[in-house]
Amino acid sequence: MTETPLSSGPGYVYWAEPPARDSDDVRARHEDNRHAWNEGATHYTSELEETIAFIRAGGSNLHPIERANLSDLRSWCQVAIHLQCASGRDTLSLWNEGVGRVVGVDISDVHIANARLLSAATAAPATWYRCDILDTPHELDGTADLVYTGRGALCWLHDLDGWAAVIYRLLKPGGILHILDGHPAAWLFDPDAETLVASGLKYFEHAEWNRGWPSNYIGDLDKSIEQHALKHERLWPLSTIYGALRGAGLVVERFGEYAEDYWDSFPNLRPEFRGRIPLTFAMLARRPASCAHRRAD
Ligand SMILES: C[S@@+](CC[C@H](N)C(=O)[O-])C[C@H]1O[C@@H](n2cnc3c(N)ncnc32)[C@H](O)[C@@H]1O
Repeated sequence: MTETPLSSGPGYVYWAEPPARDSDDVRARHEDNRHAWNEGATHYTSELEETIAFIRAGGSNLHPIERANLSDLRSWCQVAIHLQCASGRDTLSLWNEGVGRVVGVDISDVHIANARLLSAATAAPATWYRCDILDTPHELDGTADLVYTGRGALCWLHDLDGWAAVIYRLLKPGGILHILDGHPAAWLFDPDAETLVASGLKYFEHAEWNRGWPSNYIGDLDKSIEQHALKHERLWPLSTIYGALRGAGLVVERFGEYAEDYWDSFPNLRPEFRGRIPLTFAMLARRPASCAHRRAD
C-alpha cells in the first residue's frame, strides 16, 4: 500500500494496491469487505420498512435490460440463487417477477439479517446464507435454474475463477447465469467530473483499497472518512470475466454493453457527455445440458 491516496471524491478516498497474491490474500480482502459491508448495510436497514412495503405491493427492481434478457421468469424459473444479494430487495423482486423460490447469498451479517426480516414480513419463499460466495454451501449444487448477480458485485471479489466455479456448480445442467454489472471501462473516467476526464487507472490490473462511500449511494453514515472500515475493490476487464466463465465450463450466449446504468454513477456529468461511454454490461451464460461440453483445460 502507498501512503499517498491515488484519488478521492466527496466522502471517499482510495489507494492503489497490488492484486491479491494468493488465496489467503483473497480471503483477507473478502473479510475486510465483510466488515465494510456491515457498516454500509446500515443504510439499507434504514430503508427496510420502505422495502417491505415495496415487495408487499408486488414491486420489482429488475432493470429493463435484465427483464429483456430473462423474459418471462414465471414460465421457466423454479429456483433462482442470487449471489451478493445485499438486503434482499432484488432477490424478492425476482419472486415478484414469478420465480418459484429464491435463495440469497451475501457475506454481510447485517445484509442477511435485513433479508431475513424482509422475507418474514412478506412471507416470501426465500432462504438466506451468510457466507463468502466462495463458500456457498454444496447443498445448493445443481439446484438453480438461474444464478442472478451484478449491480455492483464483481468489484468486491478478488478471485474471479473461484466465482465462476461456484456459479457452474450451483446451476442445474441447462441453467443460466445472468449478470448486469458496472462496465470496467467506466473506471477509466473520474466519476465526480462534469466532463469525461481520465482517472488514470490501469485497465488491466487495477486493485485498490479505500474508505468511505459515495455521497449519492450510502454516504458518510455520520462518520469521518478515517472512521470508515477499510475495503478492497478490483477492476475486472471484460475479457477476464468472459475467460473465467468459459474456463469454468459455461457458454456465454448473450453479451451486451450499454450506456444505461442501474445507479447514477457519474452524478455530475453534463448531459452532452452522457451516452458516450459504456456504463454497464450484461452477460447471459449457460451451463451446458450435457457435461460432455465441460472444458478440460
Ligand atoms: C453493491 S452491493 C450489491 C447491491 C445489490 N445489487 C443491490 O442493489 O442492493 C454488493 C454486495 O456484495 C456483497 N459481497 C461483497 N463481497 C462478497 C463476498 N465475497 N461474498 C458474498 N457477498 C459479498 C456485499 O455484502 C454487498 O451486499
